[in-house]
Amino acid sequence: MATREEIAAAAVKIRGALVKNGVLPGVRAAEFFEVKNDNLVICRFDSLDVDALKKLEWRLDIVAIRDLGVFAIGADNCDAAAKLKAAENGGRAEKVPCAGNCGVLDGKVAVVTGGAQGFGFGISEALAAAGAEVVIADMNFDGAKAAAAKLVGNGHGAVAVNISDEESVRKMTEEVAFNYGGIDLFVANAGVLRAGSVKTLTKKDWDFVTNVNYSGYFLCVKHVAALMAEQNAVSGLWSDIVQVNSKSGLVGSNRNGAYAGSKFGTIGLTQSFALELVGDHIKVNSVCPGNFFDGPLWSDPERGLFVQYLNSGKVPGAKTVEDVKAFYESKIPMGRGCFPADVAKAIIYCVEQAYETGQAIPVTGGQVMLN
Ligand SMILES: NC(=O)c1ccc[n+]([C@@H]2O[C@H](COP(=O)([O-])OP(=O)(O)OC[C@H]3O[C@@H](n4cnc5c(N)ncnc54)[C@H](O)[C@@H]3O)[C@@H](O)[C@H]2O)c1
Repeated sequence: MATREEIAAAAVKIRGALVKNGVLPGVRAAEFFEVKNDNLVICRFDSLDVDALKKLEWRLDIVAIRDLGVFAIGADNCDAAAKLKAAENGGRAEKVPCAGNCGVLDGKVAVVTGGAQGFGFGISEALAAAGAEVVIADMNFDGAKAAAAKLVGNGHGAVAVNISDEESVRKMTEEVAFNYGGIDLFVANAGVLRAGSVKTLTKKDWDFVTNVNYSGYFLCVKHVAALMAEQNAVSGLWSDIVQVNSKSGLVGSNRNGAYAGSKFGTIGLTQSFALELVGDHIKVNSVCPGNFFDGPLWSDPERGLFVQYLNSGKVPGAKTVEDVKAFYESKIPMGRGCFPADVAKAIIYCVEQAYETGQAIPVTGGQVMLN
């Protein structure tokens, strides 16, 4: 019997092979079972034959490959899931409305790390509204499931991952390949911050930030790029990796060196990966948001940065959290903090723009400008 990894790899090839007019179908895999359902158009193979699949119209419902697995094909993943259910249980596949609202990301599978809250959740909301089927990948799995359930449309999902653990990242990639047949947009958003003076920051805090923000980005790109390369080699299409960096990746950040260093470093990774992966039809870009004042990092009433800065007297003369917020807003030419919708627009630009890779795009209301 085939392993889950082999089935996942086959799902990626099948989805790529069934590309039509630049659009990929929804694909959902299952471990092998006997399909007995006359209502479904079934194609049976003794082994995976990508060339034979390429010649097929993907109006078919089920591809069954002996000793490997069963793969449902649909207009999108919801449709494929309904067909898989019908293949397993009999009866007709109930037509499920597509995930999208005919947006620019219709039919695309997007994975967002750290999507259970903060920027990642807002980005997931915007991608879903633009038509993508979004998989929220987070170490807070319950939060990821709850967040995915709130997204507009159908076909969204959640997967548990710790991006600083390679085996966990490998499993996340395999899970998405198995259930979605590939990844068209990977948003490397998960990130952490431990501020502190270079004179006193502990090695433990330094390692924590570096392992998640720097090494975690490498691990994600390593595994996701391998999947995308397979997918694009078969389909001939392009796919996207977009990292959520920070304005602290473009200018230094006082008493915040571990974070700024990890963000500067990952721009180097983005540029290097972009140069290498262009050969696999993968664009790699970073977006560099300004401060999300309304998000948990800043506004959490107990541990947020506004409360911390108020209590530590970092902002001279500030008597309330509002005073601290006003101080930081006054540093921004456009007079407000960054919202997830601002970041999502930049991410969607990276996808829509076919002729750009290796960039780090500021989204800072004019606070940080490129040289
Ligand atoms: N908040 C800001 O003001 C701001 C500004 C610029 C850039 N950023 C960047 O945006 C991204 C998101 O920041 P945020 O403030 O929304 O964060 P957040 O702390 O609100 O949420 C981070 C999410 O990532 C998850 N996560 C943390 N470590 C993980 C790991 N090892 N594996 C998987 N998931 C993990 C958490 O569970 C959480 O759901 C980060 O990369 C951050 O550096 C944030």
